Amino acid sequence: MSQHILTAVAWPYANGPRHIGHVSGFGVPSDMFSRYQRMVGNKVLMVSGTDEHGTPIQVQADKEGVSARELADRYNRVIVEDLQALGLSYDLFTRTTTDNHYAVVQEIFKGLYENGYIFPKTTMGAISPSTARTLPDRYIEGTCPICHYDSARGDQCDNCGNQLDPIQLINPVSKINGETPIFVETEHFMLDLPAFAEVLGSWLQSKQGEWRPNVLKFALNLLGDLQPRAMSRDLDWGVPIPLEGWSDQPNKRLYVWFDAVVGYLSASIEWARRSGDPDAWRQWWQSPDARGYYFMGKDNIVFHAEIWPALLLGYNGQGSRDGKPGALGTLNLPSEVVSSEFLTMEGRKFSSSRQVVIYVRDFLARYDADALRYYIAVAGPESQDTDFTWSEFLNRNNGELVAAWGNLVNRSISMAAKNFGVIPEAGELTDADRAMLERSRAAFAKAGAEFEASRFKNATNEAFEVIREANRYLAEQEPWKIKDNPERVKSILHVALQVVDDAKTLLTPVLPGSSNKIYAMLGGTGVWSGMPEIQEVTEEDGRSYPIITGSYEGAARWESTPIRPGTPLAPPTPLFTKLDPKIVEEELARLAG
Ligand code: MF3
Ligand code: ZN
Repeated sequence: MSQHILTAVAWPYANGPRHIGHVSGFGVPSDMFSRYQRMVGNKVLMVSGTDEHGTPIQVQADKEGVSARELADRYNRVIVEDLQALGLSYDLFTRTTTDNHYAVVQEIFKGLYENGYIFPKTTMGAISPSTARTLPDRYIEGTCPICHYDSARGDQCDNCGNQLDPIQLINPVSKINGETPIFVETEHFMLDLPAFAEVLGSWLQSKQGEWRPNVLKFALNLLGDLQPRAMSRDLDWGVPIPLEGWSDQPNKRLYVWFDAVVGYLSASIEWARRSGDPDAWRQWWQSPDARGYYFMGKDNIVFHAEIWPALLLGYNGQGSRDGKPGALGTLNLPSEVVSSEFLTMEGRKFSSSRQVVIYVRDFLARYDADALRYYIAVAGPESQDTDFTWSEFLNRNNGELVAAWGNLVNRSISMAAKNFGVIPEAGELTDADRAMLERSRAAFAKAGAEFEASRFKNATNEAFEVIREANRYLAEQEPWKIKDNPERVKSILHVALQVVDDAKTLLTPVLPGSSNKIYAMLGGTGVWSGMPEIQEVTEEDGRSYPIITGSYEGAARWESTPIRPGTPLAPPTPLFTKLDPKIVEEELARLAG
């Protein structure tokens, strides 16, 4: 039975280009998952966009000397181009500065407020004594009151990971000019997290054995200390607070994380409108057997496993204060929060400011999208922190993609093309032939279960087991040495081509670009696995911006399809690029310089 699957992908901040650490956390995993789900016949809605509000954007805009909006416009476009070039199959990749997003965020806020889960509170906020302007949390640095790390930020300590308020910092200073901020009373809207302790607890408990253990453990841990949390900020860049007396205040905005997580819903609604059926989003958000999978890096877990479910529960009227669902109706909670760990880079933490970084754009200017996708699939930070090194990239590319897979495709097709010009018919099969075909067919169930559980490493390795087995099969059968028995050569090459066809299917979620090429080489017509495209759209106010969208209903099905003897074959073109070992030194020199 076909199911509705929401793939909710973390929204990258539009404060700069994204690097390969980012896309290894949210991007490539969510795309592999979605492509697999479409292949088994499920109805996938994959949404995201750029996260354009809040201090992260404001800080960078100030640095570059442009307005927050200009900055967001600039990097929204860069990010859209990079994610599309990587082949990420978003049904809609939009942005948080659309009218639709503002309206949906405000609706969710009002629903929570009306149900009593959001309440005003007077707190102490920092201002700069010299300018009298509000100092956003991230601009304030000081010593962490918990672990005594000396450069904790006003919103969070990067050393111990605790969320902080600026007033808790010991010796707070402004990062802008080094002065000591003063604290004055300011009013904010708090989310009553303790009101969700019980429901969140039983919801998380029900995920035992289903979620990655690290993620569940982290989320359960958070429940130990649930405090009301501010959902507004003293800032002029963000979604206005939709209450009388507040909506026109120039320096009060909703917290960027409040608006960003609602993006999953607003983007689904925008997608439905663009698809011509404005209510279509409800099938992913309200049908009881729809499932929602959220993909991100581990620094986002708290917002997806605690805050976002709390917002949904409050909007639905399902916390300890009860209440009624808002105008949009009752909304589904996440089925799974699929968080990855961190990718480091040649042993160091990624850092744009310290130039320890490889931007997606630069990577794709020199290497193929599938080469990066493959690396992330087999060596990414799926369940533990992992290190990207150029030498491992080189070895995997040359040894696995080029030598094992590319070579199998290439020699199978070229031998068949040269000897017969078509896919040959098989004669009587030997035990070895049958075992080979059986091995390849059996991989679908095994790799499928791994993709289903977001275990991309295992899934990809299963496909590569088949590939290695096929290379052994050819080495044993030696069709190139058989001079007097063309029927036997036909059978061997038929088996090899069938396995090539199967393996291209098994690898489609990981390597859609090269699988599409193999599909065409073996006589496939039309689209196999659809690729994303960029469309320029126009907002009601006349602003135009790029979205990623696409039609992903290709021929790709998660099953072995019999190849058709007689299909003409042309000599193959190479699928992957063999890299010169000297790229390792060149890249390391780039990093150092
Ligand atoms: N912009 C955030 C980050 O890069 C992620 C936002 S995810 C969403 O860490 F929940 F807000 F959508
Ligand atoms: Zn700390």
